[in-house]
Amino acid sequence: MSEPAILRPLPEVTAADAAAWHRIVAASTAHDLPGVLPPDPEQTLARLTKPALDSHRLTWLAAGADGVPVGVAGLRLFASPGRDHLAELELHVDPAHRRLGTGSRLLAAVVAACRAEGRRSLIVEAAAAGPGEAFCEQRGFRRALTLDHLLLRLDDVAEADLVKLADAEHPGYRLTGWTGAVPDDLADAFAAAKNAMNDMPVGDLDFGSVAWDTARVHAMAKVVADRGDTLLTIAALHDDGTMAGYTEILIPRGAPPRVQQYDTAVVPEHRGHGLGLWVKAAMLRRLRAEHPDVTEIETDNADDNVHMLAVNHALGFRPHRRTREFQLDVPTS
Ligand SMILES: CC(C)(COP(=O)(O)OP(=O)(O)OC[C@H]1O[C@@H](n2cnc3c(N)ncnc32)[C@H](O)[C@@H]1OP(=O)(O)O)[C@@H](O)C(=O)NCCC(=O)NCCS
Repeated sequence: MSEPAILRPLPEVTAADAAAWHRIVAASTAHDLPGVLPPDPEQTLARLTKPALDSHRLTWLAAGADGVPVGVAGLRLFASPGRDHLAELELHVDPAHRRLGTGSRLLAAVVAACRAEGRRSLIVEAAAAGPGEAFCEQRGFRRALTLDHLLLRLDDVAEADLVKLADAEHPGYRLTGWTGAVPDDLADAFAAAKNAMNDMPVGDLDFGSVAWDTARVHAMAKVVADRGDTLLTIAALHDDGTMAGYTEILIPRGAPPRVQQYDTAVVPEHRGHGLGLWVKAAMLRRLRAEHPDVTEIETDNADDNVHMLAVNHALGFRPHRRTREFQLDVPTS
């Protein structure tokens, strides 16, 4: 016998909807991912209600017969050329209400929306060996990529080691850094360097690619600032003005002790000179100096991204957990 679940697509997410979303995701995360900190309610509200870069969201709540929400689904529909075939799913059911068909009903609504929006690929991230993996495999998704999540405890990094790495000579290159939007005089060079992320390993994901230009770089900085998050960047500049590489750290609103690694990229012509390790070491030193309350950094890498994993291990990142990206090739009828 399945429990009646009423699906409610949300044309607009209210504060009450966001609070219900937060409660379900926090319960689901605590149940399946004990080491993972759920976002705070303000962060959730900002993420559900503020615009994202080049994409819009559809949101559903599923409620039990008593009207109390028990499941949530969010669908991010990308709009940029090169990624407008793709949709990304977030799906959680309250642990007390699982195995009653709610996840399947939410997924059916999501797949119908993908079809209506002309999306051929639906992707979702789930903890390896968790219920999400079992659900995806039952519902026609295939494994497309395995991600190793690593954690660095800043207290474990010796200051002397950090200084040595961050102060190492790299003839022909110098470091620069900024908070939030890139300074105007570096915007073109930064957009060009961002395109280097397009060769990041993505396994069998039908991920497409996006072309970065100055307008997109500024739009992304605005999206992050509007959510109340802070983005720190350190970049290596070549003498000829090229931005050879960069690394980004996101400090979520509310300044929690654990922050998130965003991009790290070195453009192909400048690889093999230790620039990835250099910019990341400089970022750690900056975090220590400017954000002493930050104690941990989480990052994730494709399990076959050997160069990035080597850099992270050299800095002291250690395995934390493993997730997989699943992909559904959306049925046409
Ligand atoms: C994945 C999730 C959304 C499933 O929600 P749900 O309401 O329990 O899903 P359903 O009841 O529709 O399950 C459908 C089928 O998936 C499979 N399944 C779901 N959970 C499973 C589990 N823990 N172990 C094995 N199979 C499972 C079963 O075949 C199930 O059918 P059955 O109960 O008749 O055997 C829920 O477990 C969850 O919130 N997990 C954490 C978040 C997550 O991983 N999200 C991303 C993945 S989509």
